Amino acid sequence: IRVGILFGGKSAEHEVSLQSAQNIIDAIDKSKYDVTLIGIDKAGHWRLYDSSRFLLNSNDPRRITLNKTGREVALVPGAGVGQLLEITGRKSGAGIDVIFPVLHGPYGEDGTVQGLLKLADLPFVGAGVLGSAVGMDKDVTKRLLRDAGIPIAGFLTCSKWDQAAARFDEAVQKLGLPLFVKPANAGSSVGVSKVVNEEQFTAALAEAFCFDTKVLIEECITGRELECAVLGNEAPVASSIGEIAAQREFYSYEAKYIDEAGAVLTIPAELPAAAAARIQALAVRAFQTLCCEGMARVDFFLTKDNQAVVNEINTIPGFTAVSMYPKLWEVSGISYGELIDKLIQLALE
Ligand code: DAL
Ligand code: MG
Repeated sequence: IRVGILFGGKSAEHEVSLQSAQNIIDAIDKSKYDVTLIGIDKAGHWRLYDSSRFLLNSNDPRRITLNKTGREVALVPGAGVGQLLEITGRKSGAGIDVIFPVLHGPYGEDGTVQGLLKLADLPFVGAGVLGSAVGMDKDVTKRLLRDAGIPIAGFLTCSKWDQAAARFDEAVQKLGLPLFVKPANAGSSVGVSKVVNEEQFTAALAEAFCFDTKVLIEECITGRELECAVLGNEAPVASSIGEIAAQREFYSYEAKYIDEAGAVLTIPAELPAAAAARIQALAVRAFQTLCCEGMARVDFFLTKDNQAVVNEINTIPGFTAVSMYPKLWEVSGISYGELIDKLIQLALE
């Protein structure tokens, strides 16, 4: 089976994607899968890599960059589907059978690439257009979860052009303090701030608006941070539950990927069996409510009085060495290699 691994991308999570891709490439069963590497650089140019030397590696994970020697078969922005067909070789009947998009954030996790692949009639791993778009937008995610009766943290939404909801005093009245300010469409906590006063609030809005034209102001839930992995199509299953204890103010980008002591992960999380089962059931319901397919990681807060609240869903969760999704499955009895195999098989179903 010929698998195209699509990685990099234009989003702020480009570097995270490179690390996720590296791990997937290392773990994939090469006796079963013939791997083609397709890297997208930060400008959106597509490059084809024949060898595994696709990364210019260094000891500093922040400095991992795409090797410019890849042959540019560019799907130049706006060039259309024809060039994707050329990359995948579908025109000639040879080429790629299935794509594994390992792209985090906008232009990859948000339905854009999924739409392109659908048009090209190429099966791919993970959620389709709708599930990807919905899962990427925290505002839409929360509205759909709320509608399904799934507990979420209180929030307000404001757009760059209508900042009526962005009044500090009103936000505090409705949501209390501290507040989180987040871009609606981003991942890995990029552009996210925790604020306790009006000055910080104003700066946080400006920061979040650098990443999106829609921003969420959210209630801060004090409690434990839990994550659950979901795998499957029509009958999705939930993994063991993991816990994150951020050693910083919150589970920020730095705590996730840069600061090695930034977070302590515990899998399985210490929870009474009934609470764990409740969270797993909620994870599957969230997955289905948000029209996911294949995989997703559902992130929760557990309040002091043991109420589970869904924070967000990640339709292409991280696969880096410190990422929860593959670790949760490992502890649940599915090795990294088997997981990749299952995901590809689910895409081909
Ligand atoms: N958005 C990152 C990759 C994650 O959720 O794991
Ligand atoms: Mg995320």
